[in-house]
Amino acid sequence: MSSPVTLASLREHTEQQLDSYLPNELHEPLSSAMRYSTLNGGKRLRAMLVYAAGLPFGATLEQLDISACAIECIHAYSLIHDDLPAMDDDDLRRGKPTSHIQFDEATAILAGDALQTHAFQLLSNSSNADISDSNRLKMIQVLAKASGTEGMVGGQMLDILATNQGITLDELKLVHSLKTSALIEASILLGALSSQNVNDTDYTLLSDYGKKIGLAFQIIDDILDETADTATLGKKAGADKLLGKSTYTALLGVDNARKQAHELIDSALQSLDDLSHNTPPELIKLLVYYIYTTCLQIYSKNTRH
Ligand code: IPE
Ligand code: IPE
Ligand code: MG
Ligand code: MG
Ligand code: MG
Repeated sequence: MSSPVTLASLREHTEQQLDSYLPNELHEPLSSAMRYSTLNGGKRLRAMLVYAAGLPFGATLEQLDISACAIECIHAYSLIHDDLPAMDDDDLRRGKPTSHIQFDEATAILAGDALQTHAFQLLSNSSNADISDSNRLKMIQVLAKASGTEGMVGGQMLDILATNQGITLDELKLVHSLKTSALIEASILLGALSSQNVNDTDYTLLSDYGKKIGLAFQIIDDILDETADTATLGKKAGADKLLGKSTYTALLGVDNARKQAHELIDSALQSLDDLSHNTPPELIKLLVYYIYTTCLQIYSKNTRH
């Protein structure tokens, strides 16, 4: 990829990497379903966070590609399963029919399963990039924890249990932190672990930053569900209310939810200010503003109130 590195160039780069790292024409329709839900769509926020966290600390694009693809595979799997009839029962994702509509339910379940294991296959393949074995093991642990019972899947379970239930703000914060923030934080940590130059203090600050923007991101997703339209979102607007989901907007109202997201984002930026590394992580800051714009511009343009 030619310099300078921009968010747009990273997004494009991610598309190319995903295309090359995903299986092709294998046990059809399995690999087609994997590719359908992973390629050609999505903001690539998580992949961009991998690059944004790793590049300022001296990791190379090649060292970061594996993590960027692995996290997008886990994310795509989470979306395929999230949309299933037994979960949120959605028929539109990234402006296209969801996997179980385009293929069938069994294929969608299997494509999700295969994307999950593909992520770990990529990360564990030591010939893929020059990353130390100890860091690679740590990366596998970080991604496994963020994806599984103690992370995204646990959060999805709590999300289902909280449907049509009155829960407290602290309980909702836990649901959102697990189902969404865990993988966003993991994106940052995978980027950091791809470099040998991140000390323990910086690692903790990056983790803190990831937790905060991850929670802000799900709060914004809740706001958009209520305020934006289906064409803009590429997924069905207003679905949370119809399903009786516990969301920040249901609990606090749109304006207070928005205030919470702002506060979290401001606080996340402060964590970055304390990083010891002498290269300012401009890309990460840029991503925070990117989150602001995807969210708040859409919010102000499409408000249905
Ligand atoms: C959607 O994530 C699901 C959430 C965790 C909120 P994204 O908004 O990042 O989805 P894509 O990848 O851009 O489609
Ligand atoms: C998604 O939360 C969290 C996942 C783990 C996929 P949502 O159910 O709110 O995501 P969308 O709105 O369908 O993208
Ligand atoms: Mg859901
Ligand atoms: Mg959903
Ligand atoms: Mg949502």
